[in-house]
Amino acid sequence: MNKIVFMSLLAGVSLFSANYSSVISSPNASKLIQKDLLAPATKYTMPAGCITKDPNAIARGAFIFHNLNGKKAKKKPPKGLSRKQMKPGVTYHQGDKIPAKQYGNCIACHNIEGAHGAGNIGPDLSNYKKTYIDSGARNYQFVFQKIADPRIDNPKTNMTVNLTTKLFTTKEICEIASYIVSPK
Ligand code: HEC
Repeated sequence: MNKIVFMSLLAGVSLFSANYSSVISSPNASKLIQKDLLAPATKYTMPAGCITKDPNAIARGAFIFHNLNGKKAKKKPPKGLSRKQMKPGVTYHQGDKIPAKQYGNCIACHNIEGAHGAGNIGPDLSNYKKTYIDSGARNYQFVFQKIADPRIDNPKTNMTVNLTTKLFTTKEICEIASYIVSPK
């Protein structure tokens, strides 16, 4: 056999017989699934002073309600709300890109005063104070729980889970709830 052909065959064989198991990651599927599984439906008690008339808090609640995330938001977020947020548990170094903060995008499913192109998968939340609160049909605790973990009210809900998933903090849920129940 031609020497060059033989040498290249040898190189090819050794290349394919190399053990690559250390560089191919083999994730533990059951662990991955566990991580993705939603924690069970959780009941929460609305903290004292949750529903506020503070216009800054209501403005933050409104911004979270009407926007998808800090990158897509056209207007500047109100005081106390950021466009970006570090993910909890992740260590960031200088120069690292901090991801856009996720907002609620509640208008994807709910209409409300001032909504542009709202969806109708969820009920219309316009005039909520008069229709739902003043009428006695709902109370603040219901609204808080619905946003925090809607599965308590409806185990088959299509609505997003916001507190159990840590998408939002208790304070943020209070601000969103304060916006919904505020006179508009
Ligand atoms: C994927 C669609 C969807 C999204 C997104 C969504 N919701 Fe809902 N929401 C629903 C549905 C459907 C219901 C009706 C009850 C149920 O099925 O849980 C509901 C019910 C509610 C109610 C209760 C209304 C009442 O008194 O009966 C409130 C309050 C509410 N949503 C607020 C929010 C807020 C705030 C957000 C954003 C953080 C949001 N929703 C995002 C689908 C959605």
